[in-house]
Parts: sequence; structure tokens; C-alpha cells
Amino acid sequence: MNGRQKLYIQEVAPRDGFQNEQRFIDTHDKIDFINRLSQSGYAKIEATSFTSPKAIPALKDADMVMHEIERNPDVVYTVLVPNVRGAERALACNVDEVNLVMSASETHNRANLRMTREQSFAQLAEVAGAVRGTGVAVNVSLSTVFGCPMEGDIGTLEVFGLMDRFAQLEVDGITLCDTTGMAYPSQVADIAKQAKAQFPQLELTMHFHNTRGMALANTLAAIDRGVDRFDASLGGLGGCPYAPGASGNVCTEDLVHMLELMGYDTGVDLDRILGISGGLPQLIGHDIPSQILKAGPRLTLHPAPAGTA
Ligand code: COA
Ligand code: ZN
Repeated sequence: MNGRQKLYIQEVAPRDGFQNEQRFIDTHDKIDFINRLSQSGYAKIEATSFTSPKAIPALKDADMVMHEIERNPDVVYTVLVPNVRGAERALACNVDEVNLVMSASETHNRANLRMTREQSFAQLAEVAGAVRGTGVAVNVSLSTVFGCPMEGDIGTLEVFGLMDRFAQLEVDGITLCDTTGMAYPSQVADIAKQAKAQFPQLELTMHFHNTRGMALANTLAAIDRGVDRFDASLGGLGGCPYAPGASGNVCTEDLVHMLELMGYDTGVDLDRILGISGGLPQLIGHDIPSQILKAGPRLTLHPAPAGTA
């Protein structure tokens, strides 16, 4: 044990990242990628989603991925699930957690999930009921909590009302998602403070996208209010195909680099994830927004230019 404050980093590139890629990533490459992540010190890995293959063709191989990855017993393997059918598929693959998803915004929920929020809630309540008692954990990810690209700000009463309904279903955790990078630090501080105070029994995760460059600042604001769990995506991949303008999650290596410098214990091996991230451009066929991959860690020193006096 050391005296550093522990933070829990949850890698979402295989789900939030890959769901958004135009080029289909070969199933064996996905499995190899997740296997390498599994050896890198993450608390949790969101490995795929059990969605309709018509809605998210990039992850149509979810069943095979979950059957073939090598599990590290220290890692919680979670999968995104939008409906009862997805939960049945996930349970058949022996997942550790189902991550149920719906949106705080009515418009985004209809666009993304083709259901009203009430229909989504009814489906997810049914899933939570069916999963309870199986030993599989239930997390709920609420999208567009910090703003919706179609509706604008979402009332905090609505957000906390939804959280309360899920808390009453005795879910294990809730993730507040900034799906399109609309969150800003003082807003995050207010929402995080209230969420921690009102729902101390829930495992609370923050899920930030860096669409407007505020993801690292938002993370620090949340830590200040007691949040210790964060989703992040290797290379800064990510984005919701049903949210206009969505782009990458907070980049895991940039996040881990900053937090470790500040003295937090993330558990994540920065060198190892940089090694994996370095292979991403080739895997997905385009450049990635990672800063640390480009610049190197802070104390990666360079020789002085020739002729320096
Ligand atoms: N897994 C596999 N297939 C599924 C499925 C699931 N979880 N849910 C539905 N399907 C299939 C149905 O069997 C049906 O197949 P068919 O056309 O061969 O009969 C088809 O998908 C349509 O089913 P329906 O219930 O009418 O769903 P829909 O077309 O209204 O779509 C969702 C609703 C929720 C399934 C779909 O919008 C979805 O998967 N969305 C996920 C979006 C997402 O992941 N976004 C990014 C993350 S936030
Ligand atoms: Zn996301």
C-alpha cells in the first residue's frame, strides 16, 4: 500500500471507440487489443456492446469477442446493453457487469435507441430485475447529462430524478456521461457534489468526451468533489454515431499521465498503454488525438540541438 489516493480508470476504447469507426476492425484484432489492455492495470474494461447489428455494425461480433478474450480476474469486464435482448446475449457470454444505457434527453434517446425515455426505462428496469441475484453487476450510463446537442441543457431535476429511479431499482452504479463534450468544470463540480451527496451507495463514474477540450479540466473538477472513477478511451477514440458533432473520449494516456504526475494512483501502466496506443493508427487506419503519444511523457528529454552553446 502507498499513501496515494486511488482512482479507478475504466477503458472504453473497445466499445465507445470502435463503435464509431468506419472501417470494420477484425474480430481477432479486437480480441488481441482487449487482451493487451487486460494486462495494463485497468479497474474495468468496456469490451463491446450487445446492440442491434443494424444500429452498430462495428460491434456485431460482440458474442465472439466476449467468448474469446483472456480474462484477467483483477479486471471487471462490462458491456453496453440497450434492451432485454442485449442483456440476454450478454449474460450468455458470462460478463461481470452489464452497462445499461439510456439518455437523459428525450430527443437523443429517440435518435440513439429508437425509444422514448419511458420505454427505455421500462426495458432497463426489466433487465435490472432479471440480472439482480445472478452475481452480475448492473451499471447504468446516462447519456447527455451535461447537455444534449439537440435539446441544450438538461434540467438537473430530470437527471437526479432518473438517477433516483435507478437507485430504487438497486443498481450497483451510475455513470454520468458527457456524450458530446458539453460539460464544463463548474457544472461538473455542482452535479458531482449533488450526486455524491444524494446517492452515496452508488458507484459513481464520470464519462467525459473531449469535444471542446474540457475533459481533463472536468476530470479534476469531479475529483475535487469526491469522484474517483472515470471512463477514458485509449488514443482519445470515441463518439456516439447518433449524436451530431460527437468526438473522442478523454484520452486515457493523457489522463493517466496527468493524474500520476499529480500523485494519484491510477493503477494503469503508462508505458504499457502507450505501447498499445502506438499501434492504434494502423489498426483503425487514421491518426488519433492522443497528445502524450505525440509529445511523450513530460520528462522524456531530448538532446540539445547541435551547435547549442
Ligand atoms: N442485439 C441484437 N439484435 C437486436 C438487439 C440486440 N440487443 N436488439 C434488437 N435487435 C434486432 C432485432 O432482433 C431486430 O432484428 P430483425 O430486423 O432481424 O428482426 C432488429 O434488431 C430491430 O429490432 P427492434 O427491437 O425493432 O429495435 P430497433 O430497430 O428499434 O433498435 C435498439 C433499437 C435499441 C436495439 C437499437 O437502436 C440499438 O441497438 N441501439 C444502440 C445504439 C448505441 O449503441 N449507440 C451508441 C452507444 S450510446
Ligand atoms: Zn461516450
